[in-house]
This record gives sequence, C-alpha cells and structure tokens, in this order.
Amino acid sequence: MQIKAVRFCGSSTHYTACPSGGYPELALVGRSNVGKSSLINMLMHRKGLAKVSSRPGKTQLINHFLVNEAWYLVDLPGYGWAKASHTQRHMWQKMLLGYLSHRPHLHSVFVLLDARLQPQEIDMAFVDWLYKQRITPVMVFTKADKVSKQHMQKQLATFQQALTTDAGPPRFLITSARQQKGQQAMLAAMENILAYKSDTGNPLEYRLLTKEVRPGRSLS
Ligand code: GTP
Ligand code: MG
Repeated sequence: MQIKAVRFCGSSTHYTACPSGGYPELALVGRSNVGKSSLINMLMHRKGLAKVSSRPGKTQLINHFLVNEAWYLVDLPGYGWAKASHTQRHMWQKMLLGYLSHRPHLHSVFVLLDARLQPQEIDMAFVDWLYKQRITPVMVFTKADKVSKQHMQKQLATFQQALTTDAGPPRFLITSARQQKGQQAMLAAMENILAYKSDTGNPLEYRLLTKEVRPGRSLS
C-alpha cells in the first residue's frame, strides 16, 4: 500500500467522541513505551506525526489519523505503565477497553511486543482479553534492532507457542522503527485486513476469525 496522504483528525477520551465518517479503523496497542507512536511515524513516513517520548505514558488519548482519505490508523495509550496512579490506570483502561470493545468500525488490532522481552503476563492477559472479545490480533515485534537474528527466531517460537489457539498461532511481524524495518510487510498486512470480506461480504467480520477462547489469564 502506498501512503499518499495522512492527517491527524483528533484526540478523544472516549470511543463515542472519536471522529466519525464511517471509515474502517486499525489500531495499535501495547505496553507503554513499546514503540506504538514511533511505528506509526515509520509507517506513514512522517517524523513528528505521532508524539514519541523516551518516557512511558506519552500517549494518553485515542488519536485518529486518516490515511489516504480511506481508513483510520489509531494510536492508543499504552497499558502497564508502572508509575501511573491508580486513578490514571483505571481511566486509561476504561478508555482503551471501551474503544476496543465498542468501536463499530474497528477492523483489527495490532498488538506490539518489545522484541527484547520474554512473554509478559500483562501482554498475554491482554491478548486473551482480545480473544474473548473475538478480536483477531496481529502481533508485531518492535525494536528488532536491539536483538540478534537468533534471538528473534527464539522469540518467535516462544510467542507462537504461548499464543496458539485451535485456529493456529496469530500472525507475527518483525519491525524496527529505528532501522525502518518491516514497513512493507506491515502495510501489506493492513491492506489485506482492510480488503478482507467474509462469506457474508461484511469486512468487519475479519475480527471474528478467532475461533477459540483460551481460559486462564485475566486482565483485571
Ligand atoms: P506510550 O505513548 O508511552 O504508550 O509509548 P509508545 O508505545 O508510543 O512508544 P514511543 O513510540 O513513544 O517510543 C518509546 C521509546 O522507544 C522512544 O524512546 C523511542 O525512540 C524508542 N523506540 C521506538 N521504536 C524503536 C525501535 O524500533 N528501536 C529502538 N531502538 N527504539 C525505539
Ligand atoms: Mg505513544
């Protein structure tokens, strides 16, 4: 997919206040500081489009970017920021989970994982929660420039095993915003999802591909 135009369309505190237009939406989620905003800038070829910071907790609202006048790319606040107050954490969780469970045109969710880290309880619980919503996530490793190829292969095997369901493992992509790596694969995945049509012809059914809900980890 070629990025011909992209513009920021607003920050919202609640899914009902998000920009309208009925465009399909693809959202990036993950722990604070995992690199969501950096990845958006890399994908869109715009340095300062989404605000980046070395300190966790930078993105605190739901941010919509309209791409090619056709779909929204959505930057979400991160979860699992240790220094957030109890009230902040509760507010963000409500904002994030509310958006993910109720936004009518959400086609899919990309869950970002730091390539350096072993599976974290909070990420696994978050993916389980997505499965329970019957949202099929695409998993994206970030900061691949920080690890060796061998480490990356091991990580892939570990995470595939940890996140497999009866429908098979989710899809994994490897990226580095610093090295501009994984851009084409990620844009191609986004294009495929946006073009997806089920037997009923409803593109929103992409999110319902998850067949099995795994018991166990819980977000709260
Ligand atoms: P919140 O908005 O706080 O949830 O964080 P975020 O997930 O949007 O992360 P952000 O893009 O702000 O990046 C966090 C830090 O990671 C910044 O210091 C980035 O420069 C750094 N970073 C992001 N992507 C990469 C990458 O591919 N490689 C490396 N080495 N650093 C990265
Ligand atoms: Mg951010």
